[in-house]
Amino acid sequence: MLKKLKWLLLALLIVGLIGLIGCTKEEPGEEPAAEETMDTMDVTKAVAEMQPTEGHEASGTVTFTQTDSGMQVVAHFEGVPEGEHGFHIHEFGDCSAPDGTSAGGHFNPTDMPHGAPDDEERHIGDLGNVTADADGVVDVEFVDENLTFEGENSILGKGVILHTDSDDYTTQPTGNAGGRISCGVIEAADEGYSNSQ
Ligand code: CU
Ligand code: ZN
Repeated sequence: MLKKLKWLLLALLIVGLIGLIGCTKEEPGEEPAAEETMDTMDVTKAVAEMQPTEGHEASGTVTFTQTDSGMQVVAHFEGVPEGEHGFHIHEFGDCSAPDGTSAGGHFNPTDMPHGAPDDEERHIGDLGNVTADADGVVDVEFVDENLTFEGENSILGKGVILHTDSDDYTTQPTGNAGGRISCGVIEAADEGYSNSQ
């Protein structure tokens, strides 16, 4: 019995090590081969692990979950300067540039003007603003009916950007939200994944 347990622990350790090596080898912006063959029709949940851009400290996690009433978005950030910050999905899942500009402009497959989340005409990526408290923490949760994991408008593989300034919902095509303090790539996740503690 004890011997079996030892072998089990050893096997777990090896699997864990392989996983660790696999992770460190992965270049940012490079899709693992396995995910390319994943049937996107089956995706109900996706996650963007948010990393600070150069000179900033904003990191966190954004979870997207398909529900009957739309896409539930749960965002948690730390290290964010107090106040409002523009929060968008951008067209490229590429955070390789130190300033996050590799993520391109706002995700806009429907060719609309920039707007507020509740506007009829808006970029699909226009998620509005999030607010950081005095401790630099952002905790928001909302449902957005414009986001999907299916077809040409799918947000899978796109970028998520948190900006230095607030989105004014008017200035084209950016909302005048300034630079980029955090960047992440939206990747399919297990149904059971949760970033809420
Ligand atoms: Cu943006
Ligand atoms: Zn926009």
